Amino acid sequence: MPWTPADNRYDTMIYNRCGNSGLKLPAISLGLWHNFGHDTPHGTKQAICRTAFDAGITHFDLANNYGPPPGSAEEAFGEILKTDFKHHRDELVVSSKAGYLMWPGPYGEWGSRKYLISSCDQSLKRLGVDYVDIFYSHRVDPDTPLEETMMALDHIVRSGRALYVGISSYNSERTRQAAAILKELGTPCLIHQPSYSIINRWIEEDGLKDTLTELGIGSIVFSPLAQGMLTNKYLKGIPEDSRAAQEKSLNAGWLNEKALTNIRELNKIAEARGQTLAQMAIAWVLRDGGITTALIGASRPEQVTDCVGALGNLEFSAEERAAIDKWSDTGNVNIWKRSSDA
Ligand SMILES: NC(=O)c1ccc[n+]([C@@H]2O[C@H](COP(=O)([O-])OP(=O)(O)OC[C@H]3O[C@@H](n4cnc5c(N)ncnc54)[C@H](OP(=O)(O)O)[C@@H]3O)[C@@H](O)[C@H]2O)c1
Repeated sequence: MPWTPADNRYDTMIYNRCGNSGLKLPAISLGLWHNFGHDTPHGTKQAICRTAFDAGITHFDLANNYGPPPGSAEEAFGEILKTDFKHHRDELVVSSKAGYLMWPGPYGEWGSRKYLISSCDQSLKRLGVDYVDIFYSHRVDPDTPLEETMMALDHIVRSGRALYVGISSYNSERTRQAAAILKELGTPCLIHQPSYSIINRWIEEDGLKDTLTELGIGSIVFSPLAQGMLTNKYLKGIPEDSRAAQEKSLNAGWLNEKALTNIRELNKIAEARGQTLAQMAIAWVLRDGGITTALIGASRPEQVTDCVGALGNLEFSAEERAAIDKWSDTGNVNIWKRSSDA
């Protein structure tokens, strides 16, 4: 039996305009960095994507290297596009990126025109689509002229491979330079993808958040749950099936006593608001309307449903804001700092 999405899928999601563009994105988007490789059954991936689309999540974020192995998340989502979302491609915003290591030799990573354009072609093949909606430069390449990387993005749009372009983990100053080059080329920078959460506020400190508002560039903030730290899952230790137990991108050492004390206090604030900690963490990045969309990940469909519940309360009192600030110093969890510092 072919799957059909819920008729009421657009009834409750909030859609925010992405910067000054004509494109609207759901307030919550789904990323396929983890849990979409060969280590996860296809049925689980399918259930997560179906639950997201039924909840009004129209934006699915990928990158060339998502897996494991690299490329397999795009292949898995390509399969889901072919089966479940076959008649819904025009209801979806699908993104991909290039920047991290994909193949050996001097052309398999960073920001050259050679790498970006071939990688984009490979992504289109794996996804089984003619174009992606957004294509990103995934990280800063300090050794390639910014003009070359931006000209490659411009070419990717002009050649029909992508509708819009974005940049990820560029600091405020580099973002201004990149946006100016793209503007001159006639392909505006649609969106920036930085990390941001209650315990990782570099975009406020660096000025990037204000820069994006000033330049009319949208913002899709990744890891709003700090990879799961800002949820109730680590309150009583490290579950076997959690990201921290996998020893990949979430260092179990970050869940030290100080961090756990903070997380438990944040959990109490969330409970007093009638939210789960995950819901409060998402609501916090979306507070005051400065951010276009919160980019979450999930290892099971129930997590998507819980996260979407965040939209029930996006308001914070002055007391709640101050209390959250008090418990937010939880060490450095920003592993993408190398790109924004470059
Ligand atoms: N541009 C970049 O450089 C970059 C870098 C990183 C991420 N991203 C993008 O951002 C997306 C999201 O990143 P992320 O996965 O780190 O985001 P996240 O939302 O901070 O963390 C997701 C993890 O939190 C846990 N979780 C989610 N909802 C939960 C809930 N309701 N209750 C309890 N636990 C919950 C799950 O952990 P378990 O798996 O342990 O269950 C899930 O895998 C990625 O998929 C990718 O698209 C981009």
